[in-house]
Amino acid sequence: MKILGIETSCDETGVAIYDSERGLLADILFSQVKTHAKYGGVVPELASRDHIRKVGSLMEDALEKADLDVKALDGIAYTAGPGLAGALLVGAGFARSLAWALDVPSLAINHMEGHLLASMLDGREGLEMPFLALLVSGGHTLLVHARSLGEYEILGESLDDAVGEAFDKVSKMLGLGYPGGPIVEALAKEGDSSAFTFPRPMINRPGLDFSFSGLKTHVMTTITNLRDIELNRADICRAFSDSVVDVLSVKCRRAIEQTGVRKLVVAGGVSANKAIKRRLESVCQDLASEVFFPSMQFTTDNGAMIAFAGYCRMVAGESDTLEDQVKARWPLSEMSPPMP
Ligand code: KG4
Ligand code: ZN
Repeated sequence: MKILGIETSCDETGVAIYDSERGLLADILFSQVKTHAKYGGVVPELASRDHIRKVGSLMEDALEKADLDVKALDGIAYTAGPGLAGALLVGAGFARSLAWALDVPSLAINHMEGHLLASMLDGREGLEMPFLALLVSGGHTLLVHARSLGEYEILGESLDDAVGEAFDKVSKMLGLGYPGGPIVEALAKEGDSSAFTFPRPMINRPGLDFSFSGLKTHVMTTITNLRDIELNRADICRAFSDSVVDVLSVKCRRAIEQTGVRKLVVAGGVSANKAIKRRLESVCQDLASEVFFPSMQFTTDNGAMIAFAGYCRMVAGESDTLEDQVKARWPLSEMSPPMP
């Protein structure tokens, strides 16, 4: 079974082909970062236009890389949400037309389910549901109990900003570039951990929800009170990063202790962060639990995770998803198991 995956939910056009026998045959990504960088964030209209320009040629590149004819495809998976409506419509329109022309099923994939399954792409030993998942991206911060494919219980989520969004905003406040995560991470390594101490929001409250907007405001206030930002950029990045690492680790520890589920998957763009990774590895070791991260190229948005999610759903019996429109908002809790 060969599934084409198309990802266009935000600022990356991703096209990939997953084969049930041979694994990932092609995984092509075009990042629009340069287009949006000068605006300090994603401009939705520009994102849609760029997806239109790229998606067709990326599909041809993927087929060439996989040495396949388009007629060899058994299904077309596409990100149907959550994301930017215009950007999603480009991928959905392309995928559904192609599926119709080839007379194969089209599968509407939830982007966050794609992230959730990305760690399984490499066939990790021992990684099967049920597991807990910490999904940390530019738009979401979720702690999920993934019981089986499509059966996701949200244990906690951010009440305001997503953690990736907080990284991006801190970077912007400091006059650094976009996306902020990798830049803040790199600078944090050079910072002095004792220069500033920022709050750890929500860690002393029971429950598994998060909040990052107060921390962001705290960073803003600190910057406003500084005479020379240049001198303290790295220290601020360090204090911010230390706070995020503490918050995420406290909540993950609590989720493992409360549920007794001893497997944690960490995914989404922020899972690329080494400080977060190291701390969660240590928490899980402490709790005799296993932790899984996707390979680096599958942490941020990509077509491979969408092709793989499409494959998982098709192999579980999903035939065609009759979604006639995309869903800019599509909570994981509203997902359902594969439907024939
Ligand atoms: O999953 P993703 O590629 O796109 C969304 O679905 O949102 O995540 C992008 C987010 C951005 O906010 C970016 O700043 C953040 O992931 N990110 C990081 C790192 N790499 C990407 N945050 C912290 N540390 C990183 N190394
Ligand atoms: Zn994403």
